[in-house]
Amino acid sequence: MVHLRLTQALTLATLAAATSTALAGGADRLELADRLEGKIVIAHRGASGYLPEHTLEAYALAYGMGADYIEPDLVMTHDGVLIALHDIHLEGTTDVEAVFPDRAREDGRWYAADFTLAEIKQLSVEEREDGANGARVFPQRFPDDAEGFTVPTFEEMIRLVQGLNAVTGCDVGIYPETKLPAFHDAEGLAMEQTLLTTLAEYGYRGRDARVFVQSFDPANLQEMRFELGTDLPLVQLISGGQQELTEPAALRRIATYADGIGPSKTLIEDSAGALVAAAHALDLLVHPYTFRADALPGQYQSLRQELAQFYFGYGVDGLFTDQPNLAVDYLKLRQPARRLAERRRCSR
Ligand code: G3P
Ligand code: CA
Repeated sequence: MVHLRLTQALTLATLAAATSTALAGGADRLELADRLEGKIVIAHRGASGYLPEHTLEAYALAYGMGADYIEPDLVMTHDGVLIALHDIHLEGTTDVEAVFPDRAREDGRWYAADFTLAEIKQLSVEEREDGANGARVFPQRFPDDAEGFTVPTFEEMIRLVQGLNAVTGCDVGIYPETKLPAFHDAEGLAMEQTLLTTLAEYGYRGRDARVFVQSFDPANLQEMRFELGTDLPLVQLISGGQQELTEPAALRRIATYADGIGPSKTLIEDSAGALVAAAHALDLLVHPYTFRADALPGQYQSLRQELAQFYFGYGVDGLFTDQPNLAVDYLKLRQPARRLAERRRCSR
C-alpha cells in the first residue's frame, strides 16, 4: 500500500512537472480540446473496413456513416501531386504490376514517386495485398472482382468532403498524414509546402480549421510549425517502434509544436493508460490507431468492449477506425445527449 501511494505520488509529481513546463501554446491547445466537445471518430483510410482504402468511395461512405474526420494518407507523384495512398509503393493496393510491368525499381517495387499523376490514374485500386505472398490482408473485405476504384488526388478528396459538407450543412473534417517525408525529400519532392498551400487554398487556415495534419516524422511537423509557420492543428504520430517519443522529455518537446499525439494503441495499453494522462497533462489530445472489428486484440471480446476501454477507460479524445459506423453507434449509445448533428457541426 505504501509503495502504491509512493508510486501515485511520483506519477502526480511527474504530471505536475510536465504541466508546469508546457510551453506557451498550452492555452490554445486546451481551447482546441474544448472545441472538439467530446470524443471524435476518425475514419481510417476512409471506411476502409467496407471499401478499398483511400478511394473516394471509401471516403464518401465514411462521411455517410457519421465520422467526424476522414483520413487520407499522402504521398507524392513524380510530377509533384499529392495523392491519397498509404504506401510509397503502388503494388500493395493497385494493379500496377499488370499495367506497368517494366517500371519496378531494382528492388522489385513500384514507387509512386516514379509515376506521373496521369499514369497513376490508369491504375485500379484493389483491396490490400501482402507484399510477401500476395494474399489479401483482410480476405473477408470487399470482393476482388469490383472495378472502377482509382487513386484520388488530395484535392479530389478535399472537394468530395467539402461538397458533402455543402449539401448536408455539416462540417466534417479531414486528417491528412504525410507519408515518409524524408523519402520524398530525397526524391526531390518536398511535401510540406505543397500540403500547406493546398490546405490554405481550400480554406483550412488557423486554429479553428477542421483539419489535423499528422506525421510520424517529428522533423516534418517541426518544419511546418516553426519554418513554414503554420498554426493548423498538428498531431505527432507515435509508432510502436518510437517508444522513446513517449518519455516525459519527448512529450514536453512534442507539446512545443503539436496539438496532440496519435500513438499506436498498444503503447497506451502497455502503459496502462499512463500515456494518455501524461499527454493530457501537457494539453495534448490523444488519438490512437487503429481499431478494427475484424482484427480484434485477443483480450477483447468485441470492438465495442475495446472502444469502451479506450474512450472511457483510458480516456482518449478520439481514435482511428476502419469501421467508423461502429464507433459512431457506440458513442451515440454512451453519449446520447451529444447529438451527431451537433458533433459534426451541422447547421440544418
Ligand atoms: O495515421 C494514423 C494511422 O493511420 C497510422 O498508421 O500506417 O495506418 O497510416 P497507418
Ligand atoms: Ca495514417
